[in-house]
Amino acid sequence: MPQQAKAVICREWNQPVTVEEIRVDDPKRNEVMVRMHACGVCHSDLSATTGVIALPPPLVLGHEGAGEVVAVGEGVTEFAVGDRVISSFVSMCGQCGSCQSGRPVLCDTASKALWTLPDGTLRTTDGDGKPLNIFSGCGVMAEYATLHVNNVVKVTEDVPLDRAALVGCAVMTGVGAVFNTADMQPGSTAAVFGVGGVGLNAIQGCRIAGARQIIAVDMSEAKLATAKEFGATHTVLADETAAKAIRKMSGGGVDYAFECVGRGSVVETAFASLGKGGLAVIVGVAPREDKTSVRTLALPAEEKGLKGSWFGSARPRHDFPRLFGLYASGALKLDELVTHRYGIEEAPQAFEDLEAGKNARGVIVFDAMQG
Ligand SMILES: NC(=O)c1ccc[n+]([C@@H]2O[C@H](COP(=O)([O-])OP(=O)(O)OC[C@H]3O[C@@H](n4cnc5c(N)ncnc54)[C@H](O)[C@@H]3O)[C@@H](O)[C@H]2O)c1
Ligand SMILES: [Zn+2]
Ligand SMILES: [Zn+2]
Repeated sequence: MPQQAKAVICREWNQPVTVEEIRVDDPKRNEVMVRMHACGVCHSDLSATTGVIALPPPLVLGHEGAGEVVAVGEGVTEFAVGDRVISSFVSMCGQCGSCQSGRPVLCDTASKALWTLPDGTLRTTDGDGKPLNIFSGCGVMAEYATLHVNNVVKVTEDVPLDRAALVGCAVMTGVGAVFNTADMQPGSTAAVFGVGGVGLNAIQGCRIAGARQIIAVDMSEAKLATAKEFGATHTVLADETAAKAIRKMSGGGVDYAFECVGRGSVVETAFASLGKGGLAVIVGVAPREDKTSVRTLALPAEEKGLKGSWFGSARPRHDFPRLFGLYASGALKLDELVTHRYGIEEAPQAFEDLEAGKNARGVIVFDAMQG
């Protein structure tokens, strides 16, 4: 049965998000309908409201959600009504060359599911019956969402859904940048630039991977204090002297630098903070026209590297359970990440608070009675 649902929508770039009543249609072949429990508010959602991430409005926001399957379409065998699931903002077909080579974040179909389902169609319409695009095949900042099975991962572990949701982006992206993209070796030194929702997870990824020195870099003193709680051993206020301070602190430069801001100038600072043989991992999503420059000679002569990381180079069905295992063992902090829960009507406030840097992560909870 189609569902009426409240949803958080970007109607126009550079305008506050709106909360609207929308219609979510039944799942078709290889799709599931999910009653969402919670959805984290990621900087990428904010970037979609400004056109920095240029997904066309009107757009149902949200790509970091968790909920319960309430209907399955034809041909769905791996999910059943009642399953608890997390969205994956990367659609994983399992068949293309990238999926076959173990890199589903580079899946060929993912690039087709940027603001629609993978087949280019939509199950979402507004009050006037007009189609609504969806963020990265998800659009899960809504009470209901119909997704392709390739954008859904089952949660079999006993994790509350408001925290499980964060594994759908911030946690996987930050921790995965360390575990998967950087393949960090124990005893390493690291600097993390930008310690918001993603950067804090890079910090805790470094701690779990056994880094001996973890330097948090941010413009906000409050964020730096939070970073210490997640495992930062040192903090540096972001200014033009940051790279020099980091090189001094680490005895010549760090082994790994993680850029979790999304700005070319910060990529340069991250690269300038590296020691010989160091690797800069770029996670932040910069505006399309943004560029960066590094000293070319340092790449061969000092064996330095620059590498991008998308969704923490995740293999979601393999990595999510690993992350939940780390949560169960006490190593991965999820409870502490959620610093504010919002009702859906408070979504505009949640976006304002994200922009003002008020939360580690803010989460929209759709129905406090669900679990
Ligand atoms: N690669 C991926 O797969 C992926 C996934 C999710 C998010 N992202 C991107 O990662 C970035 C961070 O997302 P988030 O949700 O953690 O954002 P956030 O707003 O929670 O955190 C950003 C942090 O960066 C800090 N900051 C801003 N300018 C800075 C500067 N010049 N130097 C140092 N710190 C600075 C802010 O104070 C804030 O603490 C965004 O660009 C987002 O789009 C990428
Ligand atoms: Zn995100
Ligand atoms: Zn694929």
